[in-house]
Amino acid sequence: MAEPALSSTESTSRLAWVTGASRGIGYAVARALAADGWVVAVSARNAADLETLARECGELKGEVRPYPLDITDAFAVSRTFAAIEADLGNVGLAILNAGTHEPVDGRSFAIAPFRRLMEVNYMGAVNCLAPVVEHFVARGTGRIAVVASLAGYRGLPTASAYGASKAALINMCEALHPELDAVGVILSVVTPGFVRTQLTDKNSFPMPFLINADTAARRIVRGLKDDRFEITFPRRFAFLMKLFRVLPYRIFFAFTRRIRPMLPKIGGGTPTSRSNLS
Ligand SMILES: NC(=O)c1ccc[n+]([C@@H]2O[C@H](COP(=O)([O-])OP(=O)(O)OC[C@H]3O[C@@H](n4cnc5c(N)ncnc54)[C@H](OP(=O)(O)O)[C@@H]3O)[C@@H](O)[C@H]2O)c1
Repeated sequence: MAEPALSSTESTSRLAWVTGASRGIGYAVARALAADGWVVAVSARNAADLETLARECGELKGEVRPYPLDITDAFAVSRTFAAIEADLGNVGLAILNAGTHEPVDGRSFAIAPFRRLMEVNYMGAVNCLAPVVEHFVARGTGRIAVVASLAGYRGLPTASAYGASKAALINMCEALHPELDAVGVILSVVTPGFVRTQLTDKNSFPMPFLINADTAARRIVRGLKDDRFEITFPRRFAFLMKLFRVLPYRIFFAFTRRIRPMLPKIGGGTPTSRSNLS
């Protein structure tokens, strides 16, 4: 049986823009789209890795075209988006996937990682949304997927900076969805669990329900084939995280206190007990 079309934008454009495509999930998504016949403009800072991806996709049905970019530079993002459309035509699908992670220990609190992660994960996506939304709204069509994380659903140990940036993305997408939907632009938020990439190589604790980047890419591309707002996987981990969202803090913290001993020790001192706070 033939695969269903990639949502309502398929009839208007088979040109996709994928950010964070030099490795990991973005790389696998770009390959999967090119295998499906899409022309894929790919962005990340590392131009050489993007060229490698383009070469590796040379035999596929579609085509990959590199557009190196640092998404924290809003002017460069606008210029790059304009260059993609001038070279290749109207973008129909934007997958805003670029992001990074820095585990932090709240006991040695520092401002810098919070600023860095908001700048890349949140403001980077906002910088990309600016030209995408402007053009898609003007045309009354287009499909956007913003890659957040299940870590944005609830605050988890060592992920206070990362989780906050992803929670901000989820909230922003929830707010934007009906507004864009009213003018024919479909917005989805992607919330993966643990995926084995360079990003999760920084985690030295056991990662439940870990999947590889090709599986994640398949789930994303499959999720884009219908017009669902939320594309989340793996299903069992997503269910658990959603359950955590509705649990009272007393039960939720009983769980996060239990996983704390599995986490790496960063810095000295022992965690503050509840008794010495009173
Ligand atoms: N892996 C997971 O378990 C997991 C789970 C949930 C959500 N996610 C999210 O999925 C996305 C991809 O993660 P991943 O695991 O594939 O990570 P990854 O392997 O570290 O890849 C991150 C990608 O983002 C690009 N990037 C980082 N900073 C950038 C910047 N300032 N400008 C442009 N590109 C930038 C990187 O390329 P350059 O370094 O070349 O710029 C790279 O292509 C991220 O948003 C991440 O938060 C990952």
